[in-house]
Amino acid sequence: MVIFKKIADITAYLTNHRQQARSIGFVPTMGALHKGHVSLLEHARSNGDLTVVSIFVNPTQFNDKKDFDAYPISIEEDIHMLEQAGCDVVFIPHAHEIYPPGLSQPPVYELGYIDTVLEGANRPGHFKGVGQVVARLLHIVMPHRLYLGQKDYQQVMVIKQVAAQIPELQYIDVVICPTVREDDGLAMSSRNRRLTDPQRALSSLLYQCLVSVQAKAGIDTFAKVQKECMDIMTEKGLQPEYVSLADARTMQLLPDYDNSRPMIALIAARVGNVRLIDNIFLQPVPVA
Ligand code: PAJ
Repeated sequence: MVIFKKIADITAYLTNHRQQARSIGFVPTMGALHKGHVSLLEHARSNGDLTVVSIFVNPTQFNDKKDFDAYPISIEEDIHMLEQAGCDVVFIPHAHEIYPPGLSQPPVYELGYIDTVLEGANRPGHFKGVGQVVARLLHIVMPHRLYLGQKDYQQVMVIKQVAAQIPELQYIDVVICPTVREDDGLAMSSRNRRLTDPQRALSSLLYQCLVSVQAKAGIDTFAKVQKECMDIMTEKGLQPEYVSLADARTMQLLPDYDNSRPMIALIAARVGNVRLIDNIFLQPVPVA
C-alpha cells in the first residue's frame, strides 16, 4: 500500500497505472474508518480495480463548526485498517492541497431541488461543500468507478448530479454499496464513536423506525407511521429532525406510500450532540 499526500505524486503514480490499463476504483472518505468504509473498498477489490481511498475531513461541507471540530480523527488506525483490507493507494491531502490559498473560490455546482429537502434543508451549504470536494478529488484521481455508501443516499444523488455537469467526469460509473450495520441495526458511522453508552443503546431506534415505515406500507397511511416514529423518538429522549418518504430516483418527497414508484424512507435525529441519519428502500431501487 502506498500513501500520498501531494497531488503531484498521486497523479504521477496513477498516470503510470493507467498506462497499464488497470481500472481505478475510488472510495472518498473523511477517515475515522469502520466496516462500512471497508465494505466500499471490498466492492472495489471484487471488481478488480486498483483501489484508491482518500482521507480528508473537508471543512467546506460542515455547516456546523462544532461538528467539524468534534469530527473524530484516527489516521494511524485508519492506515492500519486499510492495509489489512488490501487497499492499494491512500491519499491524505493537506487542506492547502485541496484548496490552495490564492485559488479563486472553488466552483459551485447547480444542485436544484435535491439541495432544498431533507439533509439539504437541514444542513444549509453542506451539499455544496460535498460537491466541491468530490469534484476536486475526482479530477485528481480520475477513477473508472466511484464507490459510495447507500447510508448517505442523498449525497449519492448530489454527487451524481455534480459529475453529470462536468464533461470529463460524466463517464465515471457510480457504484452504490449497501449500508453496513451493527448487530442491533444501527448504521455504522464515524459519528457513533461520540455516543455515550446509554445514547448508543437508544440509537438503534432510528433503524427500528425505518423498519416500521417499511413494514406498514399498504397497512397504515405514511402520515400515521411518521407521527408514531417522531413521537417514540421524542419520548425516548432523541431529537428527531425528520422521518420522510421520497421517490428514490428523484428524492421528491411523497405525502403517502405510492407503489408506482421506487420508494426510500429517510430519517435524521440527534442523540445528544450527535446527529445521525439512515435510510431504507421500500422496493428494489431501479438501476439508474
Ligand atoms: P464519510 O462519512 O467518511 O463516508 C465515506 C463513504 O462511506 C460515503 O460514501 C458513505 O456513504 C460511506 N459509508 C459511511 N457509513 C457507511 C455504512 N455504514 N455502510 C456503507 N457505507 C458507508 O461521506 C463522506 O465521508 C464525505 O461526505 C465525502 C463523500 C468523503 C466527501 O467529503
